[in-house]
Amino acid sequence: MARDGAIYACQSCGAVQSKWAGQCPACGAWNTLVEEVASRPPGAMAVSKTGRGRGLAFEGLADTTPAPPRITTGVEEFDRVCGGGVVPGSAILLGGDPGVGKSTLLLQVAAQAARGGAACAYISGEEAVEQIRARAQRMGLADAPVRLAAETSLREILEGLKRDRFDLVVIDSIQTLWSDAHEAGPGSVTQVRAAAGELVRMAKKRGVAVILVGHVTKDGAIAGPRVIEHMVDAVLAFEGERGYPFRILRGAKNRFGATDEIGVFEMGDMGLREVRNPSALFLDTSGERAAGAAVFAGIEGSRPVLVEFQALVAPSAYGTPRRAVVGWDTGRLAMVLAVLEARCGLALGDRDVYLNVAGGLRISEPAADLAAAAALASSALDQALPQDCVVFGEISLSGEVRPVSRMEARLKEAAKLGFRRALAPSDVDPVPPMAVTGASRLAEAVRRIGDGEWT
Ligand code: TYD
Ligand code: MG
Repeated sequence: MARDGAIYACQSCGAVQSKWAGQCPACGAWNTLVEEVASRPPGAMAVSKTGRGRGLAFEGLADTTPAPPRITTGVEEFDRVCGGGVVPGSAILLGGDPGVGKSTLLLQVAAQAARGGAACAYISGEEAVEQIRARAQRMGLADAPVRLAAETSLREILEGLKRDRFDLVVIDSIQTLWSDAHEAGPGSVTQVRAAAGELVRMAKKRGVAVILVGHVTKDGAIAGPRVIEHMVDAVLAFEGERGYPFRILRGAKNRFGATDEIGVFEMGDMGLREVRNPSALFLDTSGERAAGAAVFAGIEGSRPVLVEFQALVAPSAYGTPRRAVVGWDTGRLAMVLAVLEARCGLALGDRDVYLNVAGGLRISEPAADLAAAAALASSALDQALPQDCVVFGEISLSGEVRPVSRMEARLKEAAKLGFRRALAPSDVDPVPPMAVTGASRLAEAVRRIGDGEWT
């Protein structure tokens, strides 16, 4: 029964309903609707009795506003993804799987910023102060003047932050906070939304930069924290494959900078090490590249990154052949396989296909199509590509190889790393010492791979 003024929020997707139901009509999850009391957020302006406001003051688009000042934390990879440092008064949500290294990263960020003179607080609802201290000691950060606290009560945190002036406050994590103004448990959509709302308001009002940690769930969505994505100024995702030391920080939303920038880190005994030049990081330089391997000359954010695509095409032992892919899009793999089959005469329909992006990187550029296709064709035809060859190009459904962005930068970086040849779209000019083997159609590229003809 819906009571007056009551609304029901889905704890999985955040959709709000006026009636309770066993299943969320929006996302289909069961038993996730929880009653919320619709209330005016504290501090919001009350409607005046006479119903009259002061009226808007309009401004022109051409009026100048100075660029926002930035707190550069000194962790350069982090600063770059934020758009050149953290903007005072802004709120950032850092999402990622449990255990990926969010707390480690933000402890480093807070410590470096504090060493640089910023007043920093690190408030944890997950670990005790002793634990954080021990970690800081191990990471060689114990001397940094960070103000530490372990607290989960939103009221205590807001009161504590009032007492001192801070430039940067880290809240680890938003799911552990609870506000006594709401009955729902910590981590519920109600609590997460309320806590984030209060903290964002505090950030804006007092000019403090707030970084909120949010754990993501298995399906990859920042559930719970997803409902606060619209409240914050930037959403950053911290990613990494289990078993690999590399961690990638990506901007998913940024009101103060570009969103395609990445930061690269390596997790070690002393915490996260910044990788300033990641272009060769994901390349396996030990030994020869076998059939089925193709080096993709990619661009991540503003930087070139070379990464190996590895494919295995093998006879299938089952009625339905397997397709497995790590680090690339399954839909994209299906498309490339279909084009190889339909336009290049490679029969792959009854074969198992495995595709892996080495090093645990996730590639989303369309420019990787040709590299994936080359790796697959190389495995299917059992012909290795030349050792000094990189590949890039987008593939259309008609089997054309299309030009991609920043081709010269890709060639230059490949040359720096010792490569001398590129399999690329046909209208690319060579950049000495890089020679270009141009292919306007995928079939042409596949024929070259099969014939081993590269002059
Ligand atoms: P953590 O920052 O606690 O992850 P999150 O906050 O995202 O849940 O990182 C946890 C993992 O990082 C843990 O498995 C251990 C590893 N780690 C290192 O390998 N070296 C280090 O110096 C630190 C601090 C953590
Ligand atoms: Mg943590």
